[in-house]
Amino acid sequence: MSLNDLSDDFPICNTLNYLNAASIGPVPQSVIDFSTSFSAEIARGGTKTLSEEKEDMVYDGLRDEGGKLFGCSPEDVAVFNSVSEALNCIAWSLELDKGKLISTNIEFPSVTYPALRMAQKEKGITTKLVSAVDWHVPVEDILEEIDETTKAVFITHVENLTGQVHDIKRISERAHEVGAMVIVDGIQAAGYIPLDVKKLQIDAYITGSYKWLCSPFGTGMAYVSKELYDKLTPLFVGWRTAEEIWDFDPNVINYPSTARKFEYSTSAYGVKLGMVESIKYLRNIGIDKIYEHDMKLDGILREELGQIEGVDIITIDEHGPIVTFKIEGRDSREINNRLRNLERPVELSVRLGLIRVSPHLYNTVEDIAQLIDGIRQVV
Ligand SMILES: Cc1ncc(COP(=O)(O)O)c(C=O)c1O
Repeated sequence: MSLNDLSDDFPICNTLNYLNAASIGPVPQSVIDFSTSFSAEIARGGTKTLSEEKEDMVYDGLRDEGGKLFGCSPEDVAVFNSVSEALNCIAWSLELDKGKLISTNIEFPSVTYPALRMAQKEKGITTKLVSAVDWHVPVEDILEEIDETTKAVFITHVENLTGQVHDIKRISERAHEVGAMVIVDGIQAAGYIPLDVKKLQIDAYITGSYKWLCSPFGTGMAYVSKELYDKLTPLFVGWRTAEEIWDFDPNVINYPSTARKFEYSTSAYGVKLGMVESIKYLRNIGIDKIYEHDMKLDGILREELGQIEGVDIITIDEHGPIVTFKIEGRDSREINNRLRNLERPVELSVRLGLIRVSPHLYNTVEDIAQLIDGIRQVV
């Protein structure tokens, strides 16, 4: 399958220049059809369409695909409904009452908030948000903060605003020297970076559906290392927190012996099946090919942007396919409005006064050329 001919699967590409996967990744049309018709069938048919076997199949299917995506066993995958939910479920299950929690002052709020909230609750917990320097956080500054008092590091694999790729392996190695956990939010990485969570040596790796995985809203999942889930008791529990969920035993909690122990409730099954299909779709193309493609577009974009006078590129060299920039003396929102009003509108994001462009598998070299043309016109 050619990466340059996906407009049938992503019809939005026929009407506009969509460069916003870091916000929302469009879902392949076949997955939209499959997922919505599954949801509609359940809505119409109740248990006539959703048997217990089918319900198991949805979760098993997502754990299987999760295992292939993360590079781990399906037993090490837990299904959630969002990244924020997964981060909280894992973080609170650490049941910490003292120690230092580390993150950065440029992270997406869902990454820092569980740590900040835990520190509000327990007097013995402190937080250290390592400061960004020119919008980036040097790995050395994070490593320097990790000491014997550190209990956990909360960090993204790829930072949402600038696309900085954090050196997760180095952070994990240092954290493990002092017995601290590394909990990684990979929603801005999974879908284009070939993952090997074991190599990264992390304790938990969480991702959500609706960005680079091109899946419907409302689902997520996490790799949790066996060492971690063997140690933890989930703080939130529900009927699915059982080795045999269909026994419905209200007298005792028989925790599953795998990462599944973090799952607790029913959810939107059609959406979860949609995520299964989208991951299959991406893996069928090849995550490594998608990485190559996305980074090629990113490279052209950086090169061309660098030649436009007044453009200040924020994104550093170690980055994913996210390019963030501003234009001297210009309001980024005004630039965005002008780009949205081009004959072929460009769709991207403005965050904290910066313009963020995030091409993905459905974009082409022509899309980047059109964006550059548009920026030249506007400037
Ligand atoms: C790094 C990061 N984490 C989490 C989220 C959103 O998480 P949730 O699935 O809870 O909406 C975003 C959305 O922009 C994000 O960029």
